[in-house]
Amino acid sequence: MANIETHRDGSLKVPDNVTVPFVTGDGVGKEITPAMQRVADAAVSRCYGTARRIEWLEVAAGQQSFDTQGTYLPEATLQAFRDCHIGIKGPLTTPVGGGIRSLNVALRQGLDLYVCLRPVRWFRGVASPVVHPEKVDMVIFRENTEDIYAGIEWAEGTPEAQRFRRFLTQEMGVERVRFPETSAFGVKPVSREGSERLVRAACRYALDHGRPSVTLVHKGNIMKYTEGGFKRWGYELAEREFADELRSGRLTVKDCIADAFLQNALLRPEDYSVVATLNLNGDYISDMLAAQAGGIGIAPGANINYATGNAIFEATHGTAPDIAGTDTANPCSLILSAVMLLEHIGWQEAAASITKALETTLARGMATPDLARFMDRGTALGTQAFADELAKSIGTQIT
Ligand code: NAI
Repeated sequence: MANIETHRDGSLKVPDNVTVPFVTGDGVGKEITPAMQRVADAAVSRCYGTARRIEWLEVAAGQQSFDTQGTYLPEATLQAFRDCHIGIKGPLTTPVGGGIRSLNVALRQGLDLYVCLRPVRWFRGVASPVVHPEKVDMVIFRENTEDIYAGIEWAEGTPEAQRFRRFLTQEMGVERVRFPETSAFGVKPVSREGSERLVRAACRYALDHGRPSVTLVHKGNIMKYTEGGFKRWGYELAEREFADELRSGRLTVKDCIADAFLQNALLRPEDYSVVATLNLNGDYISDMLAAQAGGIGIAPGANINYATGNAIFEATHGTAPDIAGTDTANPCSLILSAVMLLEHIGWQEAAASITKALETTLARGMATPDLARFMDRGTALGTQAFADELAKSIGTQIT
């Protein structure tokens, strides 16, 4: 077992037998996680023989962790992610009435994983509600640590809400709260630093991956200082740090108001490539685009701090309790997250071989029931049989 080391600039030194901590996850996590591991191992073995290997290290989180250890997120798990710099996780049940608002949010904040990276593309064969799903090819950089998601809010009728209302009216001179006595309040912090590091990561990604543009999506027409600040700081950063690239045309930075973006992304998706946006906008946009490309079941995600190199890759859907234990869950979201992990550590050949196997297998109409039932001549496979099919396809690739 060997851990990744990070350099001061956030770049990684990756050992050939890299340790990857993983959380199996609740519900369908127990089915999709082994499927993902089987496919990732097949790709690494096919591409590098015995020269490289993933050493999987199971760490606890979620309901299972609570049942056995009395905590949803043990400190040892956070420490393992910190020590190894990377990790991958299945979906986790959000505790109801527990101390943690959301485990995913706690993980992102605990490791300061400020970018939620969500690539969205279509795979031939997958049914889509739009006529030209192949035109959807975007990478979303969603800010992960600020905005209304910071969780600073007070419930209606509480002493805190009343105190906050008094502060607003008496000290800040705010008169526009329509129903002050029955209002809940939330605070939306958006900083220059937080916006800059997100837009910087998006611009670097666009340049590194030969993508033509970064679009700043915002509601700055209404929320002038938070969303408007994000847009202004984003442009300023691009002009300051990427002046040559902007001048030479290697990079274009543009912006779009969020509601217009949601229309345009349906009507002219080819106009957008890399998208940088705040937390709440990013939440809506990622799921809408994922639906355009065939559904949340195949959309991968990562949470990354580009300064420290720390990253956690994850399925973007939930625990799907309605189908858990039936061997029908679609493992594509987690498998594509493993592709992102392999790309992140520079094992591009293994990443590409999984993508190719997915392209081939889905194009042949072989998929889990959620996708197969909408395909022209779809063959529904169970979770493990689908993973076997992918592993077989990887095995037949010429390296
Ligand atoms: P969900 O994503 O688990 O399920 C919504 C619908 O999509 C269900 O019909 C489900 O069967 C289907 N579905 C989801 N993943 C699928 C897959 N891989 N293959 C086939 N069908 C799939 O969302 P829901 O029901 O709102 O949440 C259930 C639990 O998951 C909650 O505790 C929620 O908090 C948690 N959750 C966790 C997330 C995470 O860990 N990243 C994200 C979203 C929800």
